[in-house]
Amino acid sequence: MCGIFGYVGNRQATPLLMEGLRRLEYRGYDSSGVAVINGQIEVAKKIGKVSELASMIPTGIEGNIGISHTRWATHGGVTDENAHPHISNQSNVAIVHNGIIENARQLRPRLEKQGVKFLSETDSEVLVHLIAHYLDLGSTPLSSVRRALHRVRGTWGLCVVFEGEDIIICARNGSPLVIGIGEGESFIASDQHALTQYTDRAIFLEDGEIAVVSAGKVQMHLLSGGRAAQNITTLEEDWGEADLGEFPHFMLKEIHEQPEALRQCISGRTLSSEGNCKLGGLELSSKELQKIPHVRLLGCGTSLHACQVGRLAIEKLARVPASAHVASEFRHNDPIIDPKALFLAVSQSGETADTLSAVKEIQLKGGKVRGVVNVVGSTIARQCGRGVYIHSGPEQAVASTKAFTNMTAALVMFSIQIGRARSLTRNRGRDLVKNLNAIPDQLEAYLANPGPIMEAVKAVKEAKMVLFLGRGVSAPVAREGALKLMEVAYIPCLAYPAAEMKHGPIALLEPGSPVVVIAPNDELKEKTRSNIQECRARGAKIILIHEEGDDIAEEADISISVPITTPLLSPLLTVVPLQLLAYNTALELDCDVDRPRNLAKSVTVE
Ligand code: F6R
Repeated sequence: MCGIFGYVGNRQATPLLMEGLRRLEYRGYDSSGVAVINGQIEVAKKIGKVSELASMIPTGIEGNIGISHTRWATHGGVTDENAHPHISNQSNVAIVHNGIIENARQLRPRLEKQGVKFLSETDSEVLVHLIAHYLDLGSTPLSSVRRALHRVRGTWGLCVVFEGEDIIICARNGSPLVIGIGEGESFIASDQHALTQYTDRAIFLEDGEIAVVSAGKVQMHLLSGGRAAQNITTLEEDWGEADLGEFPHFMLKEIHEQPEALRQCISGRTLSSEGNCKLGGLELSSKELQKIPHVRLLGCGTSLHACQVGRLAIEKLARVPASAHVASEFRHNDPIIDPKALFLAVSQSGETADTLSAVKEIQLKGGKVRGVVNVVGSTIARQCGRGVYIHSGPEQAVASTKAFTNMTAALVMFSIQIGRARSLTRNRGRDLVKNLNAIPDQLEAYLANPGPIMEAVKAVKEAKMVLFLGRGVSAPVAREGALKLMEVAYIPCLAYPAAEMKHGPIALLEPGSPVVVIAPNDELKEKTRSNIQECRARGAKIILIHEEGDDIAEEADISISVPITTPLLSPLLTVVPLQLLAYNTALELDCDVDRPRNLAKSVTVE
């Protein structure tokens, strides 16, 4: 989603800003722009790729201070005018902003009455005019930003530059910003990975903070007035820039990285002889695990699907009630928070605004939340304080793949740990741990020989709609398969628990309709077989994901087999053919597989 990069120092700003924007590209955007101080403020902005912006300013704009932005449209269409930076009418202030100004519609006419001429349809533009207004009244840059922010409601991660000033002012409320401090130069980014090539000394802005950033120096202030503490952190992990290696796309690369990523996730966390797992970062003793009355998991999209598998595993192994919540709905429904319950917030990016708000709501009401997160040092990881890193490594494709397997694995490991503290026997634990440790090799074996994926692609690529079915742990896998195909190949998909299909969606089936069924060899398989037959009776074409050597294959028109595992772990294998189906269908349809339209990698607005 929207990205920010800023620079103040002795070097030419433009090349650094362009490189910063390039590093933020993976988040998803529709336009980009830069503002550089060269005596006066010069702005260049454009819809399309960062490379198009770069070719608009081939020799760059001279100057050592600048801010830049990738925009993912919320308020106002995808136009050059709506791209950031926004500049004041006297061209003395420019701003880039992530987040949403909720009262922009009320403020706009008031500013217009004062003579302000708006140049865009965005909510962000009100900020630049408010700041310029307070500057006109004689306020300092810091005080102008403060006064402007007191007038607005909403969320922001923003950077402001001023004509004639060699500073950048940044502020945060709900949208991340990190300041990197170098030798005689400073960098600002909405994502720490855009900074790590320059410095490992960073300040993560907290909500309600304002920073005055100059070359190599930072002054921290509070929006409410007074100074804030300056907490310099060492950036822990530099993922560097993932390159494609031998792969044509990041999505395919990340699908193939799953065996190794999973090894990273489970390594050192399984205790084979005890039939147990240890997720140390949760900081929960066996005694504490015994007392938990309820486990509640929260996430969005793919992370939600991992939560749905996790909740089944927790209930099954630990016999403790567990629920999975759509994080984007959570706080709006005035949830009842039991302070004794355990909450787990699941997120690849650790920046998803909906999940973050749910975390804050729980904390506000006295609950404790642990994070299950990929990106080290991300906002959700820091907000939760304790939790589990899933160690997937960088996920650059917008469609999440290897994060799903690692989140699911982390939650299964948690279910074994809480299970062993309660009702799970050592033998059953040993069996699960043994099977879990075998999955990376099984994934490798499957990826070396993925079966008739291209036949399945042929069956779905021109379909009006594709139905995905599964029961138990395979119901979330069905949802994940549908989400993948929808987001990268733009084919309408429905996912249903297999039995629920006959309560409505069966009406959609016509001769030839593709139905993807996930049916591992578990206690529900025979029931799923009946549902397959119901679909077949209506002429549907069955693409069946099943375990090697299983006779359920006879129900399939297209049969794709995965290695055999214990039922609870089957999502770690059955999801992979669905990822490959989505990837290859997107390619066949000529879709931009790594950057699907309208989507963003990090969804930082609610
Ligand atoms: C789907 C996808 C999204 C994310 C969702 C949550 O492929 O990528 O549905 O899963 O936006 O993102 P995180 O996990 O970063 O909180």
